[in-house]
Amino acid sequence: MSVARNLIGIGVIGCGHWGPNHIRVFSQIERSQVIACADLNPGRRAHVESLYPMVRCESDYRRILDDDAIDAVVVATPTPSHAHIARDVLEVGKHVLVEKPLCTTSAEARALGSLAEARRLVLMVGHVFLFNDGIMKLHELITDGTLGKVRYLDAVRTNLGPIRPDVNALYDLGTHDISIFNYLTGAQPVSVSAVGSCITQPEIEDVCFVTLRYGDGVLGHVHVSWLNPRKVRTLTVVADAKMAHWDDVDPMDTVRVYDKGLDAPPSYDSFGQFQCLLRSAGVSVPNIRRVEPLVNQAEAFLDSVENLAPCRSGGTEAANVLAVVEAAIASMADGGRMCPVDCESHVPVSAH
Ligand SMILES: NC(=O)c1ccc[n+]([C@@H]2O[C@H](COP(=O)([O-])OP(=O)(O)OC[C@H]3O[C@@H](n4cnc5c(N)ncnc54)[C@H](O)[C@@H]3O)[C@@H](O)[C@H]2O)c1
Repeated sequence: MSVARNLIGIGVIGCGHWGPNHIRVFSQIERSQVIACADLNPGRRAHVESLYPMVRCESDYRRILDDDAIDAVVVATPTPSHAHIARDVLEVGKHVLVEKPLCTTSAEARALGSLAEARRLVLMVGHVFLFNDGIMKLHELITDGTLGKVRYLDAVRTNLGPIRPDVNALYDLGTHDISIFNYLTGAQPVSVSAVGSCITQPEIEDVCFVTLRYGDGVLGHVHVSWLNPRKVRTLTVVADAKMAHWDDVDPMDTVRVYDKGLDAPPSYDSFGQFQCLLRSAGVSVPNIRRVEPLVNQAEAFLDSVENLAPCRSGGTEAANVLAVVEAAIASMADGGRMCPVDCESHVPVSAH
């Protein structure tokens, strides 16, 4: 298939549950063109062929790497295969957008980041919630000072399935919340404590409760599970001036800002005095445009490719997220002990 001049040619490796969403999104965007995809499974190739007859389907992803019309590649295969496929993509000189989590260790993530930098190529990781309009609104409310100093963050991400056979719920779901926390705080936690439980498969946690401590006293808590009756995607931000709540499943009031708090130190002699200390001035619901986060993410990736510019979720951010996962896994193996997060990854989080 020929690629129109000036369009960014895209290849997609892995067309299971998630990969076809990338094909759809990059096909919709005017400045990109999906040239080809690859999947080992003939059933998945037939599925893509039926939806996108213009997209060539291959069984061997090396055919994507050999195609000069393809400038950038999306990797949406199972997590354990990300590192070697992403490395292969970078080594042939193509930009890469790798689904989250980038890989399974922070060391691998740093190595991939260095390779991309050395080759002057874009490595972006699909931490898609950093491109969610509700999360971006929270970031704006924090950085413009509306909420005041953040004190703690509390996230819940549960559903019934999909249960993964290769990585635990922390890698699969928790990496979303850790990436959000690091983005909102502009920092990296110094220590982490976690407990989890392997219920449906041996040695793969279905549910994890993770507590994160940031250097400036900010506390974070994440509850993730793929064994839960309810789909919940929420985040509460408690700050000095105001509090905010994000609910991704609520189509109308995705972000609510509560003008609530304590106006004075909690010292009182009567219940009446106690009530006066609490400020509850109301709730506002900011206007939020709701573009599909995957579209925002794809546009950001194309911006980076066109301008060779750093992105919000590059190799450094992905390595930082994985360093937290590693500390949490060490903690889970040690009865929930508070474990330090690898110092090597204490690099500043991108301000983009
Ligand atoms: N950002 C998000 O919200 C989000 C949502 C779902 C999945 N994901 C991520 O996307 C990735 C894929 O998840 P999924 O649910 O689509 O998994 P999946 O198992 O449904 O699909 C993976 C596909 O990759 C193919 N594959 C495996 N090895 C291959 C290879 N060497 N060459 C070509 N094809 C190969 C498989 O045949 C399969 O069709 C995971 O990393 C997951 O974490 C992200």
